[in-house]
Order: sequence, then structure tokens, then C-alpha cells
Amino acid sequence: AAPTLVDQDGGLDDALALALLVSSPAARLVAVTSVHGNVTAPAAAANAARVLELYEHRHVPIAIGADAPLAKPPHLAHPRDPLRHVIGAPRTNTPCAEAADELILRQARTHAGELDILAIGPLTNIATALRAEPKLPRLVRRLVVMGGAFEHPGNLTVHAEANIGHDPEAAASVLAADFATTVVPLDLTRTVTATRRWLVQLVRTAPSIRMKTTAALLVLAAPRRALRLHDAVAAAVLLDPAIVTATRSSPVRITLEPGPHHGQSRHASGSARPVETIVRAVDGERVRVQLLMALT
Ligand code: BDR
Ligand code: CA
Repeated sequence: AAPTLVDQDGGLDDALALALLVSSPAARLVAVTSVHGNVTAPAAAANAARVLELYEHRHVPIAIGADAPLAKPPHLAHPRDPLRHVIGAPRTNTPCAEAADELILRQARTHAGELDILAIGPLTNIATALRAEPKLPRLVRRLVVMGGAFEHPGNLTVHAEANIGHDPEAAASVLAADFATTVVPLDLTRTVTATRRWLVQLVRTAPSIRMKTTAALLVLAAPRRALRLHDAVAAAVLLDPAIVTATRSSPVRITLEPGPHHGQSRHASGSARPVETIVRAVDGERVRVQLLMALT
């Protein structure tokens, strides 16, 4: 199993991504780091800790990371921390003393050339780790990023997707670096949902109490229409690249200038280094089935 580090911002879909990851034989979770975004970085660490407790992965170190973007004041998408109200505070798992970027570097050096990183929050921690160690891309095997809205509107603003828009400077530096990067954008993740009907059905038919409970919690947490699985889709891509059915490769330009396009991600032309893989389509039912199996 590939040593894997998850950098996350404590949302419901971040929790589902973690659950998928720890349940898969394809990955071995070696560390979790937290970043501002959905909630504060300490709250994101606490949410991850509770998920790791529920999934019997208390031993995995968790480090608190950047609580603000590189170049602007923080803006939280869900300051009321809805996940905290569903799963409660962690009981035992306390964050380690290292900062997130230090833990990222330590894990990258320990697993040089083998570490996979799943980045499912703003890219601030990865950017500061990269600043401290410019050779980081050579130490990391794969970087899978959930982020960007290229063809459809964003979810932070009309133009910006949240993970990129919360820290455009960090995203620009990470996506221009020499990582073997796979970007799983909002254009794709918005199409892979767990409908309320699918979840209610799962509550009825689930073969285990844990799965029934998880499905019921998801129903409670899910908005009226459907639960968006964003980060879980990125985790599924990392765990099983065979679910990907269409990709493209291109340089990515992030708008850093203030104004309505701030944080927008676009395919760029020219000689800039291309992002290796931008996922355009996946087998959505396989993602849902993987998730279902993970929750069992
Ligand atoms: C991304 O932003 C966050 O709200 C979600 O957790 C996901 O990582 C979707 O744009
Ligand atoms: Ca996230």
C-alpha cells in the first residue's frame, strides 16, 4: 500500500475522503495535516481526529497547519463547522507538536519518492512546505489536488472554486511546481453526488450498524437535494486511477489580481509547465460503490 498523506480542511466531504482512504488496501495513511478553508485549521484537525477515531486509525499523526492564506485574510466557508455538530469532538487524538508543513516535509523525506499526497483544502501548507524545500516535488510520487473550476462556475465565487480561491497564491505556486500532479476539478466533482434517495435506501439496506449509522448521519448532514462528494471523488481517483475515463493536460493559470476573477483557474497555453493530469470524467457509480464499501 502506498504511503499517503492527506492535507484537508475539515469538511464533510473531507471526512468521507478520509474514510475512503483508511478503508482501502491501496493506501496506507501515514499523516493528516489541516488547513483553513471550510473551518479553521485547528477545527479541521479536530474533525479529522474524530474521523480517524471512528475508523480506528488513532495512531496516525495529525498536524495543524496554516490558519490563513499566504497573501490575504482568512475567509471560512463554513465557520459554524457543521461536521463538528454531526460527529462531535475527538476524545483522545490530540494534534502533534509539529506544524503541518514540517510534517509534510518529514513524511516526504521518510518515504522519499513513494509518498502520495491528497490535497483537499486550500494549498497553503503544500506551498509553504515547497518554499522550505524546493526539492519537495522530487520526494513526492503523486500529488492529487481537488480544486479548480475550468468550464463551469465556481463555488466560492462565480469564477473561483473554493480550494483555489481561498488561497490563489498558494495554488499558483503548487500547480506551477514540478509535482506529478493530478487535478480533480469542481467541473467533475459536482457531477458525482450521493442523492438523498440513495442514502435513505442505504439506511434501509445497510448490512451493518456502523454503515446504517453513517448513512443516517449523511442523510442528516445532506442538504435537501444531494450530497456533493468533491473530496471523496479525489480520494477515489488517488486510490483507483482506473475509474478515470477522460483527462487532459495543460498549464493552469490562476488569477491573482483582485477583482471578480480573483482565484479563477483557467487552462493556459504557451510554454508554462503543464499540469500532468486534469481529470474530466470518472465512473461515478464506481466512486459511490467504493464509498459504500468504505462505510461498511
Ligand atoms: C472543495 O471546497 C471545500 O468546501 C470542499 O471540502 C472541497 O474540498 C470543493 O470546492
Ligand atoms: Ca475540503
